[in-house]
Amino acid sequence: ILSLGMEIRRNAVLDALIDAFEPQFVYERSDSMLRIEEGLNQRSGLLYGELPEELIITSAGVKYHVDVAHGQKTGFFFDQRENRLALERYAKGVKRALDLFSYTGGFTLHLLKGGAKVVYAVDRSRPAIELLKQNVELNGYSSQRVLTFVKDVFEFLEEMSLAGEKFDLIVIDPPSFAKKRKDIGEALGAYRTLHEKAIALLNDGGYIATFSCARYISEADLIGSFYVAARRLGKSFYLVEHLHQAKDHPVLVGFPESESLKGLLLKHKFSPSD
Ligand SMILES: C[S@@+](CC[C@H](N)C(=O)[O-])C[C@H]1O[C@@H](n2cnc3c(N)ncnc32)[C@H](O)[C@@H]1O
Repeated sequence: ILSLGMEIRRNAVLDALIDAFEPQFVYERSDSMLRIEEGLNQRSGLLYGELPEELIITSAGVKYHVDVAHGQKTGFFFDQRENRLALERYAKGVKRALDLFSYTGGFTLHLLKGGAKVVYAVDRSRPAIELLKQNVELNGYSSQRVLTFVKDVFEFLEEMSLAGEKFDLIVIDPPSFAKKRKDIGEALGAYRTLHEKAIALLNDGGYIATFSCARYISEADLIGSFYVAARRLGKSFYLVEHLHQAKDHPVLVGFPESESLKGLLLKHKFSPSD
């Protein structure tokens, strides 16, 4: 619960959850800094039922260990469910994929499922990468198909480019770089760097999926940032798919900020004469 309006309805929300889902447990993660702005304290803990010691969920046909109490957000990023399935469809024939800001492997696992031979997964959170490794095993994939890096993505990209490494498919799913309106300029700067470095590491004819979960960064901003980076490197791309938050994260008409997640799937336009 992030806002005072919802806080006032907290008990009604809890009753509705129990009625609608008959859940094993309900665990509150009202621990966002945004609550401070609303004059609310941060709070988290078990509200109903019993939290199992080890929780395994299935999302879009893939199993994940989830740490509800300590993981990021609710422990899992459900808003990317349909986009992971979309990427799975492009993974066939991919020799080397790169999952930037991988968290516990949402995209990594779908890329493996879709047929990517090897996936490089990068996140600066060690607990997230540890869970990612467990998730690879849980889904029956060989650990040799996944190379993990507990590292800052910007540093990682620098190192890969110095080493002359290349990838066939790259996913860029960063945290919100613009939590407030005043952060927009800085966020666009970060995207410019990410897009330029990712494009430089992409094999001819490869794919890049880029996402923004920042409410203040629009799809047009994302396209603009990508276009400027591609032009600077003298490359052209097709916009193959517009990607959005999953349907159970509805967008309220008249409240554009409720469209939090937007993404682009782009394919490098390559002809042998290039
Ligand atoms: C939106 S989540 C990614 C979700 C993930 N793609 C999935 O499908 O579950 C953003 C992730 O970026 C990581 N992160 C944030 N800043 C980072 C940085 N500078 N370098 C590496 N990882 C970073 C966080 O630890 C977090 O796991």
